[in-house]
Parts: sequence; C-alpha cells; structure tokens
Amino acid sequence: MALHRLTSVTIGVPNVTETAAYYEEFGLTRLDASAGLRGDDPPDRLEVRFATVDGGEQLRLVPSPRRRLVELGIGVADPEDLDSAAARLAAADVAADQTPDAVAAVDPGTGVRVTLGVAGPVDARPAPVIPQNGPGRADRGTARAEPILREGPVRPRKLGHVVLGSTDLEASERFFIQGVGFKVSDTIAGAASFLRCSTDHHNLLVQAAPVPFLHHTSWQVDDVDEIGRGATALLEKDPARHVWGLGRHHIGSNFFWYLKDPAGNFSEYYADLDCIIDDQLWKPEVWNDIRALYNWGPPVPEAFLAPSDLAELMAAAHQP
Ligand SMILES: [Fe+2]
Repeated sequence: MALHRLTSVTIGVPNVTETAAYYEEFGLTRLDASAGLRGDDPPDRLEVRFATVDGGEQLRLVPSPRRRLVELGIGVADPEDLDSAAARLAAADVAADQTPDAVAAVDPGTGVRVTLGVAGPVDARPAPVIPQNGPGRADRGTARAEPILREGPVRPRKLGHVVLGSTDLEASERFFIQGVGFKVSDTIAGAASFLRCSTDHHNLLVQAAPVPFLHHTSWQVDDVDEIGRGATALLEKDPARHVWGLGRHHIGSNFFWYLKDPAGNFSEYYADLDCIIDDQLWKPEVWNDIRALYNWGPPVPEAFLAPSDLAELMAAAHQP
C-alpha cells in the first residue's frame, strides 16, 4: 500500500494549556511546551507537541478560536507515492500543493488539511501475550493475573484513527478515497465510511454532520486492561470526563472507552482492532442497525452521537 499509516494530527483548541495537561494525563509524552511562545504571549498562545510510544510525534495542539482538526498527516512509503497522490487528487478535481517532501490538500466537507509525506513504519514492540484462565483451562498456572499487578501510567502506543463530521459526505468520500487513496473497510448506509490507509481496519471515519468538526481521536493501548486503567485514572481526577465505555464496537471489533478533553474533543482508548492484512480476504459490509455503533456496552449516550457543543460550533461556523 502506498499510504501506510497516520502520522499525526494537529488539533486547534481555544485552551491549549488546559487541553495539553489533559493529554499528558491521558498518557502521551509532552515533547516541548515552549515552541512558538514569545515573552509577552499569554499561555494559550502556546503550541504543544506530544509523542506516543511507537508512533513518535503524533499530536500537536495549536490555538484556535473553536475546537477543530486543523491537519491530518499521512505517511507514504517513498517519494514516487507523493506523485501518485498528486495525480489522484488532480483527477478528482482537488487543488493540491506539492513540494519535494509533501502533498497537501483540503477536504471540502470537513475543512481539514491533509498532508502526505514520506514516513517510516510504526515500529511496534509486540505486546506480550498475557495468559488467561478459562473454564477447564488454567493457562496462568498458580499465579495472580498480570494486569492487576501493573503500575504506572498507561502509555498509548500510537494514534489509531480520527473521526470527522463532514457537511458534504459524498465530497469527503471522493476526496479521501479517490483523491488521497484510502480504502473502504465498512460503511454505515448513507451516514459514514470507515476508511483505512494502513492494515488497521480504520484510520479515518467520515460521517455526515451539520457542521465540520472533530468527533474523536483514538489511541491504541496494549489491551482491554490498559483501557480500563487509563480511563479509571482520568475519571478519578474528574468524573465529568466520561463519555462512553467500556464497550466493544462491532465494526472494527475494538474495545473502547471515550473520554472528553477540556476543549470538548473526545479521545478514545482502544485495543484489539481488526486488521486487514490481505485486502482480498476482507469483505466490506454496509451496516444499518445498532451494530453500526457497538456490539456491547452501556447504552449509547446522546452526547456521543451529537456532542453538546455542536450548536455552538455551528453558530461559530456561520460567523464571518
Ligand atoms: Fe473510534
């Protein structure tokens, strides 16, 4: 695959300092707190960068009057892939900027700038296989379960996917599929497309929305215990951060827990997502029942489907 990974997201928020503190607690590693800071700048002029364990620098928080995804970075294997992407975008009637190192274009439906650049693979140290006991099966022998002995903060391995609201779903699908080169993994009839630019089931979900907005970013952890540990630690500090979880999605199969950052963006811990190693063996399906949302878990909260600040974002979008 010419595209092979998500590299990074740049999220604009009105409260960079507060939001940065949240992502540090979420388990990302803060790289620098001073880039862009001048002596007379108020704290929320800060730009803050974060890294994951396996993905390197993957999150940048920048000041913005309203929360939004500013940029999505995608890694390609080599420079020729940039030429192919530029040709695909041109064929899809999308204006793109090409430099020797990058191709960039803006999706008309989500307003997000997508930048493709040559990037190395995500270098993941394989997660250990944890023995689990089951009926008639004492795989762990005489020992306590390893997850209950874990200490220290949860550290997300990588940025897994991004979910965006689009005011023109068809245009966004055309942009990301025909233009950028994403593949379709599954679809929710008339509402959303699960797209991949790697062997992960999805790296991007675009969904129809009344205003372009960032629904959530999703961060991979080793297993369901790490999801539970990470979410519990965040909720001990502030229970109002809870959005939805613990549960298991049907589309993509991953365990999930969604929490809200101080700007109103949702952030998801996930584990055990489906992989599509062989395109020929995967049959994309169209979903139109509750499995579009989840397989099991607490009832879907209304605020997950329509974040409470949507009206505010719509009003802001219509301001000159
Ligand atoms: Fe997700």
